[in-house]
Parts: sequence; structure tokens; C-alpha cells
Amino acid sequence: MLDIRNNVNLKTYNTFGIEAFCTYFTEINSIEDFLALLKTDIYKNNLKLILGGGSNVLFTQNFNGIVIKNNLKGIEVVTQDNEAVIVRAAAGENWHGFVLWCIEKGFCGLENLSLIPGCIGASPMQNIGAYGVEIKDVFNDLEAINTATGQKKVFSAAECEFGYRESVFKTKYKNQFFIISVSFKLYRQPKLNTTYGAINSELEAMKISNATIKDVSNAVIAIRQSKLPNPAETGNAGSFFKNPEVAKEKYDELKRSFEGLVAYPLPNGNFKLAAGWLIEQCGLKGFEKEGAAVHSKQALVLINKNNCSGKAVFELSGYVLQKVFDKFGVTLEREVNII
Ligand code: FAD
Ligand code: EPU
Repeated sequence: MLDIRNNVNLKTYNTFGIEAFCTYFTEINSIEDFLALLKTDIYKNNLKLILGGGSNVLFTQNFNGIVIKNNLKGIEVVTQDNEAVIVRAAAGENWHGFVLWCIEKGFCGLENLSLIPGCIGASPMQNIGAYGVEIKDVFNDLEAINTATGQKKVFSAAECEFGYRESVFKTKYKNQFFIISVSFKLYRQPKLNTTYGAINSELEAMKISNATIKDVSNAVIAIRQSKLPNPAETGNAGSFFKNPEVAKEKYDELKRSFEGLVAYPLPNGNFKLAAGWLIEQCGLKGFEKEGAAVHSKQALVLINKNNCSGKAVFELSGYVLQKVFDKFGVTLEREVNII
């Protein structure tokens, strides 16, 4: 049954723990709820914001519209054979819970993406990635509802146009689709990806030689817990900025001027710079302003250190951007969705 509430505080619905109010708020527990919502005047006449776990949004002001919290649940095996399995999860399922479910069943491919907060439905939005794997590597397809017409559409990987922290849902189809489920192609035989150096070191520290997917998941969890703040204790939305891509000429120039520059070559000849390193070199690790701060263990993460406002986090991000530009001539781009 559709229930629309007025003037709801979103503090517990975003992992920054920022207080912001929305004019209307509703929770979607079934497709029928969403289709019924589409017919209401409140939906037709207001701005809309779909929310999963609220772990990639920053509220800088109240939201004068309707927040639609997605609670669609369910996981099913669609097809399977001796080699592969297609698993579909509803958009409101918790991402990490789903990863653990797959590991438990022996379905391989998601282990490097352990402990990422949020829900299934948001995972294709920015093609979530960590430790050498992005969801595009295991993505099969997704189902979404056109928010204007109520029509269902299936998107293939090619139609999602995945890039680094990018997809069509952040660009040409922004706010036009409500993702209702995502399916993944996983494997029975592990194809472990431990190219990300820290995973091997962590496995060694754990004294594990023949690693299973569960071991890799545990290693990733341990690395993440050592540097990323737990949103249940400290408000944050993970990396606040993307790692910037620069041309080889710019990389060469920086390399000559800054010893220890952290950068990764890309197939197109450009280089990706570690934004956390750039921010740290500006002396900003731990820097705090109006209750918002640069995380002291990972400078790419901004935190709600002392019950700050979303505006304070946004202003801090502007300050960080400026400092990095002044020192390196590199412009950072925000990863988090600013509301
Ligand atoms: P929300 O914040 O609720 O929404 C994000 C965006 O997606 C919004 O624009 C929203 O409108 C839209 N959206 C949400 N659900 C739907 C839907 N069903 N249909 C259409 N639009 C929708 N990200 C990474 O990629 N890699 C990481 O390693 C990583 N680590 C993190 C660590 C921490 C501690 C935190 C707090 C965040 C981290 N993130 C990481 C960012 C975040 O967890 C992911 O972006 C996640 O996928 C967001 O999911 P969510 O459900 O919380 O999305
Ligand atoms: N670094 C520093 N100082 C810092 C932070 C990082 O020097 O304060 C250096 C590290 O020493 C390392 C390099 O930067 O050499 C990369 O750091 P890290 O491995 O922590 O990863 P990241 O590039 O900062 C990215 C993703 C994360 C993802 C990790 C692991 C982006 C924007 N962020 O962070 O994703 O979990 O790699 O794969 O690509 C997110 O998107 O929210 C997120 C957390």
C-alpha cells in the first residue's frame, strides 16, 4: 500500500548523516506501489529523487519534492549450467548482503566488491568498482521503469554505456529510469583477481596461500576497514572525488616536479592520478572546517566529523578542489551526487 508522508527528515536515509527535509517521502515495496505512485498528483507535480542506501548523495539543502525510497526485495537464480550462473537481485537488496549470498553459494565474481555500502539498484548508476573489478565486468542486464511512461525496459551492458564511475543513468537518461532489478553473470570456477597489490599482501598477512573467494572477500573487507570510515560511526559517502585522468604530457610534467606521484597508465595512453595522494600532498589530511573534514586515513573521503551541514561538506570540497588545482593544475571532479 502506497503511503506518502510529509516533511520527513532524511538524516537516517543518507550515510553522511546530514539533516535535510523533503516535502514528500514514500517507500516502494512492490512494482505496483511504483506504478500507483506514477498516477498521483504529488508525483506528477513535484521533483523526484530515488534513494537506495543514500551512500552516494550529499544533501546541501532541503529537497522540495518527493523522495522515493526503494525497498524492492528478492534474489533469484535465472539460469545456470556447469560453468556460469545468472543471478538477478531486486534493486532494494543490500549490495554487500547480496555479495555474501553469492559467495556462500560459490558464485564467483563479486568478491572484490565486498563491503561497498548501498543497494543493488544504484550499483549500475556509477558502475561501482573496487580492487580491480567494476560491475560492468560481471553485469548481465538490468530492468528499469521509465519514470514518465511507466513502461519497462531491459538494458544490456552496451546500452548502459559504462565508464569509470559513469553510465547512461548519470548522463543522457539522468532521472528518467527507476532501476528495479539487476542481473549478474557469475562463475562456478573462481577467477581470482588479486592484481590490486594490497589484496595479495593482506592474504599473506592472513597466512593464506590457496585463496578462496571467501578469503579474497575477507582480505578486501580488512583493507577497507583499515582506511575507510564506517558510515554507522562517521558520516561519509566514500570517495568524494573521482581519480582524475590526464594526458601523458601533463603526467610527465607532474612526474618531473613531484616525487612520489601516484599514477596508473590507461589503455588510451592517458594516466589516472590518485586524487587521495594529490589531496594529501596539499597538506589537507585531517583538515577540518565547520564540522566537515578530510578523513585522516584516506584523503579522498570527506567526513561529517562534527554534526555538520551538507553545505559545509560542499564548501570543504570546493576548498579541496581549489587547493589541488593551485598546486598541480589538475581539476578534480566530484563523484558524489550533490542534491
Ligand atoms: P544512493 O546514494 O541512494 O543513490 C545514488 C544515486 O543513484 C542517486 O542519484 C539516486 O537517485 C540513484 N539511484 C539509487 N537507486 C536507484 C534506482 N533504483 N533507480 C534509479 N536511480 C537510483 N562506490 C564505489 O564505486 N566503490 C567503492 O569502493 C565505494 N566505497 C564506498 C565506501 C563507503 C564507506 C561509502 C559510504 C560509499 C562508498 N561507495 C563506493 C559509494 C556508494 O556506496 C555506491 O555508489 C553505491 O552504489 C550507492 O548505493 P546507494 O543505494 O546508497 O545509492
Ligand atoms: N593515497 C595517498 N593518500 C591518501 C589516499 C590515497 O597517498 O590519503 C594513495 C595510496 O597510497 C594509493 C593510492 O592513493 O597508492 C590509491 O589509494 P586507494 O587504494 O585507497 O584507492 P583510491 O584510488 O583512493 C579508489 C576508489 C575507491 C575504491 C578503491 C579501491 C575512486 C574515486 N575511488 O580509491 O572507491 O574502493 O580505489 O579500489 O575511484 C568510492 O568510489 O567511493 C570508493 C571508495
